[in-house]
Amino acid sequence: MNSTTEASELSAENLGELKYSRTIADLSGPKGLPFLGNALQMSGRQWHLSLAKWVREFRPIFRLTVPGGSVVVVSDRATAGALLRERPEQFRRVGGLKTIMNELNISGVFIAEGDDWRKQRKLVMGGLNAEVIRNFFPKMSFMAERMLRRWKTALAEGRPVDLRRDLKAFALDVTVGIAMGHDLDVVNHDGSQLQRDVDNMFQRLGARAFALFPYWRHFKLPADREADKSAANIEQTVAGFIRNTRARMEQQPHLRQKPTTMLEAMIAASDDPESGFTDQDLINNAILSVIGGEDTTANTMAWMINLLAQNPDAASALAAEADAVLDDAELAHDWEMMKQFPYLDAAHNETQRLRTVAPFIGIVSNADCVVADTFVPKNTAIMVSTAGEGLDEAQFPQNDAFLPERWIFDQKPQKEDDPARKLIPFGDGPRLCPGRFLALTEIKLVISMVMHNFELEFDTHAPPIQQIMNFFMSPSAVPVRLKLRS
Ligand code: HEM
Repeated sequence: MNSTTEASELSAENLGELKYSRTIADLSGPKGLPFLGNALQMSGRQWHLSLAKWVREFRPIFRLTVPGGSVVVVSDRATAGALLRERPEQFRRVGGLKTIMNELNISGVFIAEGDDWRKQRKLVMGGLNAEVIRNFFPKMSFMAERMLRRWKTALAEGRPVDLRRDLKAFALDVTVGIAMGHDLDVVNHDGSQLQRDVDNMFQRLGARAFALFPYWRHFKLPADREADKSAANIEQTVAGFIRNTRARMEQQPHLRQKPTTMLEAMIAASDDPESGFTDQDLINNAILSVIGGEDTTANTMAWMINLLAQNPDAASALAAEADAVLDDAELAHDWEMMKQFPYLDAAHNETQRLRTVAPFIGIVSNADCVVADTFVPKNTAIMVSTAGEGLDEAQFPQNDAFLPERWIFDQKPQKEDDPARKLIPFGDGPRLCPGRFLALTEIKLVISMVMHNFELEFDTHAPPIQQIMNFFMSPSAVPVRLKLRS
């Protein structure tokens, strides 16, 4: 392995044997202020852009200074992958985020560690595997179809379509549908209690994740008290969904073998007395999946539509592919169709390369170790770039251009030339995103439907689209009008 961690180098007992030629203090990095270091440059809603700029300047590994210590940033794909694969033993998730999530009563696999993580991971993987997504697909297709109806009605009545709002509503419908077994229909009906509660929690999560000072530990604002109430409401609501789903599964025992939602799959798994899964595990992971699955997927679709609307050649190629696959159908009703969109897959990869919604993964070392020839003491925070080499001009020429074609090959490329190995938008190793398959299915279903039915008109007078970090990275706007294709 080239200048990356080796498992043998990570053990604390082997401290005397660790081989390295530099320490964190020897690493280069951006200049900071006295006492505050780089903390101010890392605050605000665009901190990821400062970090991405430094990645270009100081890659593959550099140091930031913050009050109380240093943060190591790793962008080289091989080193990043090696670190992420050494979890949960050698690295844990960064603690600040965990505390903030816990304070909002959010728990589950994302913030679990060690044996607890192994148990939760098994539960979540069983609930989000390909079989469950496939069984859920008819419901997802129905949800996409009603969004299409809404759009066609709006256009027929001369009203504009609010793509940003509707994509978020659709992603919430899908995640609540699969994780909680309930059809909210936020696409058509805003304002249900559950939607308000999820929004409240999410907004507080974003606000606290970027707060300069954790004021809520000393006094609570009305918004904090609302969020606490929402957390309790959601928990109660999900407990009710579990009771209803259990009752339905009693009447329809085949759902145990062929679960159509994540909740059914988790209930079936937890009914095995050997499993050790409690109802609290089910509640926690159902809530977490909604938090982890809504904005990530909605923002990715929003970015993709923004990029396609500004790149008419790519949009035409994608529309031609969607027409060929969907033919007379307005959208995909058949799961098998999801395998027939190579250009859409390529456009998705290119969107992830340019505008990934989770650009960094924060981890902390559990023991002294060596990372890229650098001694890294126990409890050091490390930011791993998921963009990997995607923003490196040498690896991806015409780096800022949206070129799906760079992901399409007549023959499978050699390992070292394979662009898919150069970025990790869904993470890497044992904690790789368990929702990626669901997210990709949603993205393909919706984007193929959009391109088959509509033309995208980019509003060239709109202000430039900003990249805003609201917990996940989102576009400041989607200045795109839908026009019915003839
Ligand atoms: C485009 C959409 C998505 C992106 C870009 C994304 C990205 C990520 C990333 C970067 C991680 C961290 C992986 C690591 O630490 O190595 C992650 C973890 C996770 N994601 Fe996603 N995600 C997406 C959609 C979803 C969906 C739809 C769900 C669930 C419905 C989901 C649930 C989770 C969970 C539960 C974890 C924690 C896994 C663990 O710690 O073991 N994600 N995701």
